Amino acid sequence: MRILQLSDTHLRGDHKLSFGVVDTRRCLNEAADHLKSLEQQPDIVVITGDLADSGDLDAYHILRDTLTQLGIPVHAVPGNHDRRDRMHAVIPHWCPAKEDIAPYLCHTVEKENLRLVLMDSMHPGSHSGHLHAQTGDWLERELAKRPDTPTLLFMHHPPFLTGMGAMDEPFENVERLGAIVARNPQLRLCFGHMHRPIITQWHGRTAMTAPAVSMQIDLDLSPGGGDTFRMETPGYLLHHFDNGVWNSHVCQIAVQATFAGPYPFVGSVNPTQ
Ligand SMILES: [Fe+2]
Ligand SMILES: [Fe+2]
Repeated sequence: MRILQLSDTHLRGDHKLSFGVVDTRRCLNEAADHLKSLEQQPDIVVITGDLADSGDLDAYHILRDTLTQLGIPVHAVPGNHDRRDRMHAVIPHWCPAKEDIAPYLCHTVEKENLRLVLMDSMHPGSHSGHLHAQTGDWLERELAKRPDTPTLLFMHHPPFLTGMGAMDEPFENVERLGAIVARNPQLRLCFGHMHRPIITQWHGRTAMTAPAVSMQIDLDLSPGGGDTFRMETPGYLLHHFDNGVWNSHVCQIAVQATFAGPYPFVGSVNPTQ
């Protein structure tokens, strides 16, 4: 089973440049072309949030039309730049949440020897991650259904500290999330939001963030870091699960990267609806 994790496409539907610099539509098309060229196609694509740059409706239409061409099932969670109502309106089959968890876009993909649990960690208008009481209850119920089955947990916001200055914001209810993770050794944790690959351990589990399909956040480990980006090579994660062996590969997208930057995140929007 090959699960390909894309993240942070930050797509704009109005043909303008994201943050005045990045042609995120071109980035998406380059990623789609790269995925089409892979000899070993993934079984599932998961997008870990910030699909749109400011939650605009057209961005979700473009994403749906572009990625549907791959012919691979796509699943997604929202990020702080997304709008749940518009994801639900345009790509409900990517985030098929049941009514008992509304309005949060959480769902589980069940395979014979593997589970993908997709959790909604966004709060409208907020840049940082949240575990709401309702999503925490849902996560506990879901994990209890098949506690002996290897499980990838996908969310947009990483709950661990990264050393990247401005990106290390408080994650609401992180203590409860940590306790849930500590009780569930079947978990591997996969996030977006950081726009670069980071691998660590959190409450005894392997945890990682995916590089972005669009711009990468500058690797600045000073207290003031984490608030600029650079046009480094974009990428994705490929989680490979085969006969009980589990590896996560950090992969690059074949483009001529300029590494231009640093650029500030000017005009960044976290939609309120
Ligand atoms: Fe992002
Ligand atoms: Fe984000």
